[in-house]
Amino acid sequence: MQSPLAFVTGACGLIGSEVCLYFSREGFRIAGLDNNQRAIFFGPEGDTSWTLEMLRESIPGYQHHAVDIRDRSAVLALVSQLKPGAIIHAAAQPSHDRAAAIPFDDFDTNAVGTLNLLEAARRAAPESPFIHMSTNKVYGDLPNSIRLKELDTRWDYDDSDFKNGIPESFSIDHSKHSLFGASKVAADVMVQEYGRYFGMPTCCLRGGCLTGPKHSGVELHGFLSYLIKCNVEGRNFKIYGYKGKQVRDNIHSEDVAALMMAFCKQPKAGEVYNLGGGKANSCSIWEAFQLVEAVTGKKQLYTYVEQNRSGDHICYYSDLRKIQTDFPGWRITRPLPNVIEEIASSWSRRASAKVALRDVVQ
Ligand SMILES: NC(=O)c1ccc[n+]([C@@H]2O[C@H](COP(=O)([O-])OP(=O)(O)OC[C@H]3O[C@@H](n4cnc5c(N)ncnc54)[C@H](O)[C@@H]3O)[C@@H](O)[C@H]2O)c1
Repeated sequence: MQSPLAFVTGACGLIGSEVCLYFSREGFRIAGLDNNQRAIFFGPEGDTSWTLEMLRESIPGYQHHAVDIRDRSAVLALVSQLKPGAIIHAAAQPSHDRAAAIPFDDFDTNAVGTLNLLEAARRAAPESPFIHMSTNKVYGDLPNSIRLKELDTRWDYDDSDFKNGIPESFSIDHSKHSLFGASKVAADVMVQEYGRYFGMPTCCLRGGCLTGPKHSGVELHGFLSYLIKCNVEGRNFKIYGYKGKQVRDNIHSEDVAALMMAFCKQPKAGEVYNLGGGKANSCSIWEAFQLVEAVTGKKQLYTYVEQNRSGDHICYYSDLRKIQTDFPGWRITRPLPNVIEEIASSWSRRASAKVALRDVVQ
């Protein structure tokens, strides 16, 4: 019997590529969809062609489809032809800040693209687990209304209801989301609806800061990856407001892929999980500087901009207890210092590879 096929959208991005490798190791055949739109959204620094080469080299029989998720008829035809046993949806316009400049591209990709894929799945593979990468931005800036305390290097919740972080029951209503957050809310609710209304095994993973060595971090997306890149390359990192004490919870992309696998083995319909590093893997920007400097030995260069990013979270970390209850075998395997070490060595390798290529070309 043939092994099952996992269809991964956004296959060349941070999450998609990790999922392709992880599911391949677990015995799935892999078909990826990605049209390198990240290079269009963010310019050459967002180019993910290097990841496509890596997938082709690493995964036997890897099939790639350079299809645009907005192309409804192409997506319907492709899913009907592939009939995947699992669908992981990680293609997206992922930036809060970029969305305001490209509202149609953002909504068409994030909301309409998700609907295209859901409907394609309902027609061709309704029994297959469908996992959607959602975001904590669906909560808009409502987490900023929780009472906070200012510590030496970070903000923290000053409300015992949130001592474990933000739970899935937190409201997604009555707050400022950014256009990105709004397009992701549309997708998130639609994914839940295909689970509740049609009974399909769907789930939304509302990500905190997802990161790892495969990220092509840019200023507008991928905070930790970009911060480390700046450190490794001696570039200036800009802090936007909140005294640099804003807190993010960071999770290695492989831990994200592991949870997706756990869901595929034990799917539910229309579920929602908050997925980040949790409090243990959270850091503020100052704390990230210290951790990175300890790994690279280089001083972090930065400038401070008084104005915070519009709608940006002051303090956010995920409450992981619902995941831990539903999937007791899953856990965070990479503490934050290890994640930072891996990212730093990946940027150093990529920098040396660029120098080597330049020397060959010259
Ligand atoms: N990285 C994070 O910190 C983070 C946090 C929360 C949620 N998420 C969510 O996780 C998902 C994956 O994020 P990521 O960090 O891997 O992003 P990424 O930008 O690294 O990957 C997304 C991939 O999708 C592809 N893509 C974009 N538009 C496309 C289109 N129209 N057609 C086909 N392919 C297209 C891009 O080329 C890119 O390779 C997104 O839904 C994002 O919103 C990410």
